[in-house]
Amino acid sequence: MLPVLFLQALAFTGIAAANPWRRPNRRGCELLSQADADLLITRWTTTLTQTDSDLGNSTQTWDYLLADEFKLVSGSIQTLQQQNVNGNYTIYDGKQTYIANELKYGALYAGVHDLDIIVGCNRVVWYWQVDSVLEAIIKVRGVNIFSLNSEGKITQLVVENDSLAFGINFGANVTFPAFGG
Ligand SMILES: *[C@@H]1O[C@H](CO)[C@@H](O)[C@H](O)[C@H]1NC(C)=O
Ligand SMILES: *[C@@H]1O[C@H](CO)[C@@H](O)[C@H](O)[C@H]1NC(C)=O
Ligand SMILES: *[C@@H]1O[C@H](CO)[C@@H](O)[C@H](O)[C@H]1NC(C)=O
Ligand SMILES: *[C@@H]1O[C@H](CO)[C@@H](O)[C@H](O)[C@H]1NC(C)=O
Repeated sequence: MLPVLFLQALAFTGIAAANPWRRPNRRGCELLSQADADLLITRWTTTLTQTDSDLGNSTQTWDYLLADEFKLVSGSIQTLQQQNVNGNYTIYDGKQTYIANELKYGALYAGVHDLDIIVGCNRVVWYWQVDSVLEAIIKVRGVNIFSLNSEGKITQLVVENDSLAFGINFGANVTFPAFGG
């Protein structure tokens, strides 16, 4: 008797809470499942630690995952590179440019954690933490937004992360003004 009542209670809650935002079903929003997104992030993480994925080494992994017209977009990387922020946030334009530049740095990261992986239409949002970047002084957190085309290849990656923490790990000497009073 109890389980039946319990199920009825659940069903009732479900009806009461149904779709409070009245979001219409949007066609073309079913590109990726949560499992697809999780696999994408597992593969992407191997490119940060420069270890092999199921697709091969980092070059082979990027080659499979990225569309030819891939772009890396980031305000926090621009700031860290001490570039003027001028409205063009593209860091690398083109898959081969991206791969060639990333390979220069080698393995910078260890202890990469998924804090959240969110799927939306043709995009995946990944909230992450890296425990160790080079000198491993401070943990770094950031957010990646991957956009995918209809073939499931990544056309754009927006990366915004704690570039202050990142810089300190690279040996930057940061002095702070006195905030507040
Ligand atoms: C990845 O593997 C390919 C094929 O074996 C090889 O040509 C390439 O040099 C490797 N790249 C790296 C960065 O190890
Ligand atoms: C975090 O940002 C730095 C620059 O601020 C960049 O070099 C690095 O690739 C980013 N890290 C990750 C894991 O995306
Ligand atoms: C923006 O910057 C990227 C990378 O430097 C460059 O390839 C691209 O041509 C620039 N785009 C514009 C519109 O200036
Ligand atoms: C860092 O900056 C502070 C304040 O300007 C200075 O006293 C200190 O010597 C600097 N340290 C290094 C390692 O450059």
